[in-house]
Amino acid sequence: MMHFISFMIALSLAGFHTSADYLAGDIEKPAAETETAKTDTEVGTEKEAEKETEAGSKDYQNDPLYPYIAQQNKLVEKDGVQYITNPENILVLANKEYSLQSSYSPPDLVRPNVTFSFGDAQVEKAQMRKEAGTQLEAMFAAAKQDNLTLYAVSGYRSYQRQQEVFSAEVDAKGESKAKEAVAVPGTSEHQTGLAMDISSRDQGFNLTEAFGETPEGQWLQKNAHKYGFILRYMKGKEAVTQYQYESWHYRYVGKDAATIIYENDWTLEEFFQHVRALQKKIDGGMAK
Ligand code: DAL
Ligand code: ZN
Repeated sequence: MMHFISFMIALSLAGFHTSADYLAGDIEKPAAETETAKTDTEVGTEKEAEKETEAGSKDYQNDPLYPYIAQQNKLVEKDGVQYITNPENILVLANKEYSLQSSYSPPDLVRPNVTFSFGDAQVEKAQMRKEAGTQLEAMFAAAKQDNLTLYAVSGYRSYQRQQEVFSAEVDAKGESKAKEAVAVPGTSEHQTGLAMDISSRDQGFNLTEAFGETPEGQWLQKNAHKYGFILRYMKGKEAVTQYQYESWHYRYVGKDAATIIYENDWTLEEFFQHVRALQKKIDGGMAK
């Protein structure tokens, strides 16, 4: 018996394995036993292909849109409505296609330290999410440095408040006109706490298209992206956003995304169309 054990140890040290070893999964079966041997040319071609795939995926990772693949909406469909299940995403895309749950309210609302059209009144619409609020403060301070006073008019709106705003607009203009100007409850960016309507004293703090032509409106169009904000409903992009031009509605998306969107003259919808196209390219490459 001792002899047999020593023999087995010797065999194993010498690199021999019994089939029991493989069955137990302790040792990887040498490739040569499971695959037919490959010619040098075949191996060479495979190596080339591997290199190409590696280089290809590295290219994708260098794409400025790559980080945003993970920041797309996650959705669940219920009664024909697409609900966003990750509404706390700073890049959340809330629009006529993608809805927020009526119960959603952002977890980190604050009142930014900026000038409001309604002064010191403690009201819901003075609030924004923390990160957006901090950047709003920086943006308003920078405008002030350029001798321009911006006024925050309307930020966070709960689902219930959006219902009131929407039905008031329907009463005033009829449903179809109302939908071009005010979001149906559940589809407003104001419910995300990431949007702020902005105006100026000379516009009577009103939300007017003409605000876009004022020094304050012009300053925002040129500088908002530096603080992470985008003009959300652009002139000429009504068919994409499905809203009339809103010179006053600024949306926080973070500096990097805002800069990409600004430089490409995209809407948030177009930004995500490009993100999705990149994702499809990568998924296609991997499935090969
Ligand atoms: N006015 C914008 C579209 C809203 O109601 O959210
Ligand atoms: Zn707005």
